[in-house]
Amino acid sequence: MSYYIGIDLGTSSVKMLMADENGNAVKSVTKEYPLYFPQDGWSEQKPEDWWRAVKEGMAELTDGSDKSLIKGISFGGQMHGLVILDENDDVIRPAILWNDGRTQGEVDYLNGEIGKDKLSEYTANIAFAGFTAPKILWLQKNEPENFKRIKKIMLPKDYIAYMLTGVHSTDYSDASGMLLLDVKNKCWSKEMLDICGIDESVMPKLFESYEVTGTLKEEIAAELSLSGDTKVIAGAGDNAAAAIGTGTVKHGQCNISLGTSGTVFISQDTFSVDDKNALHSFAHANGKYHLMGCMLSAASCNKWWLEEILNTKDYAGSQSDIKELGENNVFFLPYLMGERSPHNDPDARGAFIGMSMDNTQADMTQAVLEGVAFGHRDSVEVARAQGITINRSTICGGGAKSPLWCNIVANIMNMEIVTLEKEEGPAMGGVMLAAVGCGEYKDVYEAAEKLVKTSKTYSPDPVIAAKYEKKYEKFKRFYPALKDIFKM
Ligand code: XUL
Repeated sequence: MSYYIGIDLGTSSVKMLMADENGNAVKSVTKEYPLYFPQDGWSEQKPEDWWRAVKEGMAELTDGSDKSLIKGISFGGQMHGLVILDENDDVIRPAILWNDGRTQGEVDYLNGEIGKDKLSEYTANIAFAGFTAPKILWLQKNEPENFKRIKKIMLPKDYIAYMLTGVHSTDYSDASGMLLLDVKNKCWSKEMLDICGIDESVMPKLFESYEVTGTLKEEIAAELSLSGDTKVIAGAGDNAAAAIGTGTVKHGQCNISLGTSGTVFISQDTFSVDDKNALHSFAHANGKYHLMGCMLSAASCNKWWLEEILNTKDYAGSQSDIKELGENNVFFLPYLMGERSPHNDPDARGAFIGMSMDNTQADMTQAVLEGVAFGHRDSVEVARAQGITINRSTICGGGAKSPLWCNIVANIMNMEIVTLEKEEGPAMGGVMLAAVGCGEYKDVYEAAEKLVKTSKTYSPDPVIAAKYEKKYEKFKRFYPALKDIFKM
């Protein structure tokens, strides 16, 4: 018997999952850390907080287990965050996260002056505010002293991997979101490094997600009472890791994530880019590629609505008065942190629209769930316009625990939505990548085939789906109508 550990370094917490070679969870531990919003639209975290949480969590996770069974550790991590280290490998400043919107000026420079065509040629993507390259340009301009001290640039999970192994590494799926990787050819883009004024020596070494990057440093192994032979496997950005964990590994398979962010992830065997770069074209953790649309606020909209506005944590109770699907006249625009796909607008904001005197709190709660589903539909429509057929998707993330929300997504997308028997999200992807890296499975396809079991299928009801189709036509018109007002 062997154990593998998957570390999902999320935005509100880190989840650590230990599972055996058959994917049976032995134990999981979650540790929270603070998220800082130093200015409107900014979003930061301290890498030191992540590391403290991981160390504490690992001790709890492995406590009482036969530690000699632990063979490998891997990751899923929040993407795009800029972590910078100085010549002593000390963190220079807090990490600037994926949902930070401060770089509009740099995004305009990259997309406008360098030009979207050039960016797409170099990296397969255009600039979005949360991506890493615009943040490097922002730092160069606004914190030149910090910029000068940079000796290493890393992504969030890679900082943890570095602390465990002493190796500066990253994987292709996560590196894709930096706007510094030539995604098609899987190497750093010299042109982009030049544009950002950085040398290739500051970039981490690139690995496939299932490759071993190193073993535990002696002092860390001793501190965690683990064997120094424990392998560390590169891991993946959280969406690619979740895709592995949900078995989204074959060409055309789709996974929808209802987490803090919301994503539509489409696995692709071959490299492709859509005409307008509305979807991200990234490497997948299976060694191939994927297309992805990303909403900056998904389940976080519902969390905000319930916890901040209604002052309750009763998620199930908040949904009990919701009656008919397809009948709600209230709409919600889910752009609480601006929006990435497909609008690419850090200034977009949330809104309730269409209320009348007879509307209730339940209608507004329903509108929040529906608004997030309509936002995902926007990404699915971009993919459909590229000729990609999507009739079925797995679903994961905190929001997928709500049967009502799964049903709403199925009807708004007009496709089958499938839940997983054991939904452990990116942490399970980490476990699977660790198991592949340690030779337990020959590749991620075999791991997915053996370990992923689906549970319930939500099928659209033709009458409800037709009603939502009309509502989607209306939803699509709100953002263009409000866009200029958001900028005022
Ligand atoms: C993907 C993205 C988010 C984060 C969330 O492009 O920005 O899904 O990875 O952790």
